[in-house]
Amino acid sequence: MELLSKDRKIIRLEETDSTNLYIRSLLERETLEEGSIVIADYQTGGRGQMGNSWYSSKGRNLLFSLLLYPKNLFPRDQFIISRIASLAVKRTLDRFTDNICIKWPNDVYWKERKISGILIENDITGEQITRSIIGIGINVNQVIFPSIIPKPICLKMITHSAQDREYIFDIFQKEFFQLYHDFQNGRIRTIEDEYMHNLYRMNDYYWYEDKNGRFLAKIEDVLPSGRLVLKTNSGEERKYAFKEVSFVD
Ligand code: BTN
Repeated sequence: MELLSKDRKIIRLEETDSTNLYIRSLLERETLEEGSIVIADYQTGGRGQMGNSWYSSKGRNLLFSLLLYPKNLFPRDQFIISRIASLAVKRTLDRFTDNICIKWPNDVYWKERKISGILIENDITGEQITRSIIGIGINVNQVIFPSIIPKPICLKMITHSAQDREYIFDIFQKEFFQLYHDFQNGRIRTIEDEYMHNLYRMNDYYWYEDKNGRFLAKIEDVLPSGRLVLKTNSGEERKYAFKEVSFVD
């Protein structure tokens, strides 16, 4: 299938546990083409990174998962999928507001607040990533959040008017499949550059925390594997996988 065409399969659900899980269980029963999307109005068990939950009130936000069968993608290069997904969200939200950036590895922020989260689940066969389920939550019109969510924001709070979810979903698909097409055609460097260029807390020293405590450092790079490269203020280079380091506010 030509992924840039508009006739990809979209499964629309009123409610499900999690769109990522829905795709996974559907794949146990039937085959689904690359580019298929499951979108739900509500999730009873929305999942976030690190075993967290993803809360979203009914019918207010965008909750969907996309299915890819990447070709020749080795685990050591897997982060390209995160770059594509987060850039597609960023480009989409850029149409509505300034100040959208990507917080490593793949949160999307407006200023200091999180507007979108991404949960990517890859399956490896042999030595390659053969299947990727990309779950995306974008806060669109939800203005009240449970207090346990750190610093959430939605598009409506930024633009001061309710936004059309379908319109946003449409823009997202265009941006996502364009970026994925670029990747398939070898334009990886441009995607990496755009990702680095839009990274939260780039170009200056900030506080970070690892298992040994807090330190001041600057983002140097994000490797194809997804590891974050920091340079401390004493010139030491440190590399971290997701969960091994956190940003200090
Ligand atoms: C995070 O920031 O922790 C990632 C959140 C990912 C949420 C989306 S909503 C659609 C898809 N289904 C899920 O259960 N999670 C992802």
